[in-house]
Amino acid sequence: MLTEPAKPLLRALAGEALSPPPWWLMRQAGRYLPEYRKVRARAHDFVELCLTPELAAELTLQPIRRYAMDGAILFSDILMLPYALGQKLAFHEGEGPVLERIEDPAGVARLDPGRIASALDPVFETARRVRGALDPRTTLIGFAGAPWTVATYMVEGGGSRDFRRVKSWAYRDPQAFDALVDLLAEATIEYLTGQIEAGVEVVQLFDSWAGILPEPAFVRWVIEPTRRIVAALKRRFANYPVIGFPRGAGALHERYLHETGVDGIGIDTAVPPGYAQRTLQPHGTVQGNLDPVLLIVGGPALEEAMRGLRRTLGRGPYIFNLGHGVLPETPPENVQTLACLLAEPTDDA
Ligand code: CP3
Repeated sequence: MLTEPAKPLLRALAGEALSPPPWWLMRQAGRYLPEYRKVRARAHDFVELCLTPELAAELTLQPIRRYAMDGAILFSDILMLPYALGQKLAFHEGEGPVLERIEDPAGVARLDPGRIASALDPVFETARRVRGALDPRTTLIGFAGAPWTVATYMVEGGGSRDFRRVKSWAYRDPQAFDALVDLLAEATIEYLTGQIEAGVEVVQLFDSWAGILPEPAFVRWVIEPTRRIVAALKRRFANYPVIGFPRGAGALHERYLHETGVDGIGIDTAVPPGYAQRTLQPHGTVQGNLDPVLLIVGGPALEEAMRGLRRTLGRGPYIFNLGHGVLPETPPENVQTLACLLAEPTDDA
């Protein structure tokens, strides 16, 4: 049938159980690859790297050339959206991102959603280039941070240990904080629409800090904006597949899957695969959740864990991935070993 998706990753997201399962790795482009470090050294800073289509396209393709993953994830960063909204952003070597902090409604009022299309056009151009260069079985994955996670960086001014500032604002004046989250949800819809029109075939919403909220706040600032984004994308692009990654959501994974309308759910390393198989997989495609440290360790520990995941999750709709991003200390050979082991069709079927 003409309408049936042929690419393994899209088939898995449409609910098929495949053996071997399709795979890709969060943060599959990055400092663990010598060829990444070479390109990185050519750009002044990380933001410039994300906004130079020639370099960003090259970085997207680097891991695919080595390992032929089923998914190529657009090279960019979740913080490019606040940058496009006019917030100052810098990445200092080895320190992580630093943003000019937003503390109140006046800070929200200074954000300018009118800049998104032009400021992020280089990202769309990267997507067009990569889509043109990919072989017909590899799926191009676009992404954005989910509003809650992006808001944490915008309000904290970077990473945080306890998220005191962003939580205090949200709990003290939920209506004012809603204005920021609403703005981010609309901006994310526009940003992902641009990526989809440029050729990305599935999008993932990274909600890296979903797991730090109590249930009512999780419903209001994780589930609700995600539901809005998914609904808007599916209205504009019929049946368009979306993966959500509510890292740390624990016992709230089920509500997240049921209430947001995502097709696939990324599970972090702490989610028991048996739980995911019983409670999530009947309602959506599960993606994850090998411990990234096992990819540093390699050897029998890596092989055993990989086989265990395939035995538990491989009989249902499943995309193999890590439970969080590839760590910079990862030996590239271990990713090669993983690629070879994953190609075996045996374990799961
Ligand atoms: O997955 C990929 O290969 C595609 C590109 C990608 C990057 N960041 C590139 C990057 C993706 C999908 C992201 C997502 C991202 N960025 C998240 C969500 C996932 C997660 O890890 O929880 C978050 C929270 C960010 C914000 C961010 N960007 C941080 C905290 C840092 C600094 C820490 C670090 O690992 O360096 C970044 C920088 C960053 N984003 C790098 C890369 C390759 C390293 C930059 C460098 O080379 O100096």
